[in-house]
Amino acid sequence: MRIGIVGATGAVGREIMEILAERQIPLTELRLLASARSAGTKLPFRGQELEIQTARPEALADLDYVLLSAGSGPSLALAGPAQAAGAVVIDNSSAFRMEPGVPLVVPEVNGHLITRQQTLYPVGNCTAILLVMALTPIHRAFPIERVIVSTYQSASGAGAAAMEELQEQTQAFLNQEPVVPRIMPHPYAFNLFSHNTTIDETGWNGEESKVRAEARKIMEAPDLQLNVTCVRVPVLRAHTETVHITFRDQAPTEDQVRELCAAFPGVRVVDDRANNHFPMPVDSSHGDEVLVGRFRRDPDDVRGFNLMLSGDQLRKGAALNAVQILEAHAALPPSE
Ligand SMILES: NC(=O)c1ccc[n+]([C@@H]2O[C@H](COP(=O)([O-])OP(=O)(O)OC[C@H]3O[C@@H](n4cnc5c(N)ncnc54)[C@H](OP(=O)(O)O)[C@@H]3O)[C@@H](O)[C@H]2O)c1
Repeated sequence: MRIGIVGATGAVGREIMEILAERQIPLTELRLLASARSAGTKLPFRGQELEIQTARPEALADLDYVLLSAGSGPSLALAGPAQAAGAVVIDNSSAFRMEPGVPLVVPEVNGHLITRQQTLYPVGNCTAILLVMALTPIHRAFPIERVIVSTYQSASGAGAAAMEELQEQTQAFLNQEPVVPRIMPHPYAFNLFSHNTTIDETGWNGEESKVRAEARKIMEAPDLQLNVTCVRVPVLRAHTETVHITFRDQAPTEDQVRELCAAFPGVRVVDDRANNHFPMPVDSSHGDEVLVGRFRRDPDDVRGFNLMLSGDQLRKGAALNAVQILEAHAALPPSE
């Protein structure tokens, strides 16, 4: 396969390279692209030093797959030309996610939407992907009416510069030096704040609206009630979410939910009450699985149930999901 990565120098782009290497994807070419700022610099891959090119439409010829991870602007400019040049485009930005007729694929949930005819695959919002990985096995067996989600989102969700900022600020804070925000709107080290996306006239921020709309689209559940509050916490990698579910009928037992989650590919149950060990970023970081646990009934509502999840959003929430789509597409028989 000939694969191009646009945004190769970024947090998601680098993770894609790592996953391509780990999963031993057969490659005849890996073309790395980023902004003009990075052109000419090199990144290591499988023992070689690959030079970064400026991402322009002309630089995307003769590729089988183009993975876009450079934000919506570059995706809007480059997805069309890449498709026109014959590539299948897998896009980590939000540019095309809600377009009617364009599937939003999480392979474990709706992998059947990957076909030869479809040449554009947006990858969903990272927080939404982690959420649907936990909700889908439960919802298939016990229909869910309403979900209330609170998130604890890491710096890596905002890219490489935000991760650096959290590290620098932590150092500065411990050295009792002034902490000056550059990327995030507020001091980040030893603090937390409402998600740093734009707030609309309803008071919802962009991340909350994306989680709601995209989870409904991925789960093919347009009527699912989803109330979301997104918060940044000073964690470097991996997002965590607490989830309250109201089922349409009586809630399943904790064992039933445990079994459903444990049987779902890509999910691992971490639910050790004796040791107070539940999903957390230190365990989910750098891993492929979404950790799910802290299963509890709602004492005041027979239809209510609580759980907690944690997943490495650079991997399952972005890079891994993108590579899984690529693998599934590449494995399709020619006629499908
Ligand atoms: N971080 C996450 O957890 C996550 C999860 C899901 C989706 N996403 C999405 O994935 C994309 C990348 O996010 P990230 O976190 O990896 O960001 P990042 O660390 O800030 O990296 C951004 C990348 O885009 C490149 N870039 C910026 N402007 C460009 C331009 N005009 N033309 C070509 N390349 C350009 C940068 O290249 P230079 O180094 O040359 O500036 C860099 O390689 C975004 O759309 C983001 O919303 C991120």
